[in-house]
Amino acid sequence: MAQQVQGVIAPGKNEPVRVETIVIPDPGPGEAVVKIQTCGVCHTDLHYKQGGINDDFPFLLGHEAAGIVESVGEGVTDVEPGDFVVLNWRAVCGQCRACRRGRPWYCFDTHNAKQKMTLLDGTELSPALGIGAFAEKTLVAAGQCTKVDPEVSPAAAGLLGCGVMAGIGAAINTGEVGRGDSVAVIGCGGVGDAAVMGARLAGAARIIAVDIDDRKLETAKKMGATHTVNSRTTDPVEAIRALTGGNGADVVIEAVGRPETYKQAFYARDLAGTVVLVGVPTPEMQLELPLIDVFGRGGSLKSSWYGDCLPSRDFPMLIDLHQQGRIDLGAFVTETIGLGDVEQAFTRMHEGDVLRSVVVF
Ligand code: APR
Ligand code: ZN
Ligand code: ZN
Repeated sequence: MAQQVQGVIAPGKNEPVRVETIVIPDPGPGEAVVKIQTCGVCHTDLHYKQGGINDDFPFLLGHEAAGIVESVGEGVTDVEPGDFVVLNWRAVCGQCRACRRGRPWYCFDTHNAKQKMTLLDGTELSPALGIGAFAEKTLVAAGQCTKVDPEVSPAAAGLLGCGVMAGIGAAINTGEVGRGDSVAVIGCGGVGDAAVMGARLAGAARIIAVDIDDRKLETAKKMGATHTVNSRTTDPVEAIRALTGGNGADVVIEAVGRPETYKQAFYARDLAGTVVLVGVPTPEMQLELPLIDVFGRGGSLKSSWYGDCLPSRDFPMLIDLHQQGRIDLGAFVTETIGLGDVEQAFTRMHEGDVLRSVVVF
């Protein structure tokens, strides 16, 4: 029997979001219905609302979520009703060339639930990042559910579903930060702060946080930054070089997504260092570089997609570390809010006062 729940939709470009009744079908083959416990408010939700991702309105927003599996469809064996799970963007196929080469984050055949959730009048909803978890329940592909330790705080666990995983993974998976490395993180919002946390976890000796906002630099220190640079007043490339014996950092993580910060990352690395690009640029942005510098600098330039994570490997591991007190995922939760407060949370996010507002059901 299809069921009706409350969820937050973005009805049209730049229109305020609102709570509506959502119709959720029973899970079909390979699908699961999850009762959501918490869902973080991410920039990507705001981008959906602004029409910056695509025009498939109305969207059912929310995608950084944890909850309990309520029911599963035919053929689902990895999770069962009652399991506590963190949701991820897409289920991977496990069969394609990327999956077989151990890089499922580049899977050619990822998928979400096949059936659609709708409004009461039958209008089909597009779930944000294939999830749609600003809702009491949501329908996903069962492969989007990763079972984790049910003792963990759901608000902390849910954040692994997106930004925090992207940042930690940029450091530990893509950047392969090693013991004793020097790491610079340019842009210390939620993603950059998570990269700082990942660098500390990996044993980096120096972690240089760069931002244009002093409030962000203070938070980055709490996450593990050993040095901070305000790039509004100080040239970050020179500052990073000065803090690394004139060499540049072993790993530079860019978490803004702008030409000037891509360029800073390029020049702030050690000649044999790695640049990890996790900030997402817009399609029209361009970067011009002297080819001699591209040729003359060794090392590598990598982009990081969802922190190059393997949810089944990384979510339980990070939750274990959190439960042991070795990382604090709760540090990203600035406030908990209700389903009706999402529009206001977007405003606060825009003003830069919060790392994460988390909707709690
Ligand atoms: N130099 C340094 N820092 C900057 C600059 C700049 N020119 N411009 C903005 N920043 C800082 C902001 O002050 C803020 O602290 O970058 C940070 C961006 O943080 P958020 O807006 O909170 O964004 P976040 O969620 O962390 O995502 C960052 O990563 O995954 C991507 O799509 C995401 O592109 C986005 C980026
Ligand atoms: Zn695949
Ligand atoms: Zn997100």
